Amino acid sequence: MRSYSLIAPAKINLYLQIVGDRPDGFHELIMVLQSIELADRVIVRSRSVEGVRVHCDNPAVPVDQTNLAYRAAELMMREFPETYAKFGGIEIDLQKRIPMGAGLAGGSSNAAAVLVGIDLMWNLGLTHSELQDLGAELGSDIPFCISGGTALATGRGEKLAPLAGLDSLFVVLAKYRDLPVSTPWAYKTYRQKFGQAYPKTTQEIEAKKARSKEILTAIAHHDFKQIGQQLHNDLEQVVLPEFEKVQQLRDQFARLNPIGTMMSGSGSTVFALAESRSQAEEIRTTMRSNIPDADLELWVTKLSQCGVHLANH
Ligand code: C5P
Repeated sequence: MRSYSLIAPAKINLYLQIVGDRPDGFHELIMVLQSIELADRVIVRSRSVEGVRVHCDNPAVPVDQTNLAYRAAELMMREFPETYAKFGGIEIDLQKRIPMGAGLAGGSSNAAAVLVGIDLMWNLGLTHSELQDLGAELGSDIPFCISGGTALATGRGEKLAPLAGLDSLFVVLAKYRDLPVSTPWAYKTYRQKFGQAYPKTTQEIEAKKARSKEILTAIAHHDFKQIGQQLHNDLEQVVLPEFEKVQQLRDQFARLNPIGTMMSGSGSTVFALAESRSQAEEIRTTMRSNIPDADLELWVTKLSQCGVHLANH
């Protein structure tokens, strides 16, 4: 029985701007997405019987249809019924390292790995762009997780343009183990609070979008200081007032003079960028001693240029 072992990296948002409403009920976004080395491992194999089976080493992760990886396998079966009939069902093993409800696209990256793995296992020969179109049906972050690196994401987050890579930087991640934030809740609350002020005319929309120019220039020039100053996330305006502990992480990081600090996605992870591994380790050690809470998890990892890829072994 053939099996494929894939690395499914997490992402952080260096920039997340909500432009306004879309006719499909989602928000029009401008984001800068960045892959990081923190990753899950996803093993995809055929099974002798029909259907999908998901196993996970973390019992808190649902293994039914609510799991995006499960839905990704079902999508491939629907799209390629003859190949499905030939190869049989799909078994998926998730080895989780990326925390959940964290704003790090862990679930999306797992789904991206399932799409890539099934494409290989079934010899479909799909292009990245075809896999990304399939992924976009399941979640806005999945197309990015397939290609990875540093990218400008617009539309719902599924329209991608690659940016100059920033893989020399390190990042410290901080998240409370029992503090997930729901992405639909964050966007819904943002709309309730700020929806009245969403731009209506093309001119207003374009004026708002222009805000992203500064971070894009900073990235093009690899100007780390400017990148740090231009980090931005509109969802902080709803998540930080609601979750005091996330605000506290943000404040504590800011005191330690990183290149920059920001919440990722809809949270609850807060990250700090550092120029070297030793600076990142120092920030982690200080955070650990300043916040002696056993529920606080901290990681030091590196920015990466890789999306989903095959594991070496
Ligand atoms: O696409 P995804 O399933 O990741 O989105 C999760 C939720 O986040 C959506 O159901 C929607 O409420 C919100 N969202 C949004 N606008 C986007 C992306 C997500 O409102 N561009």
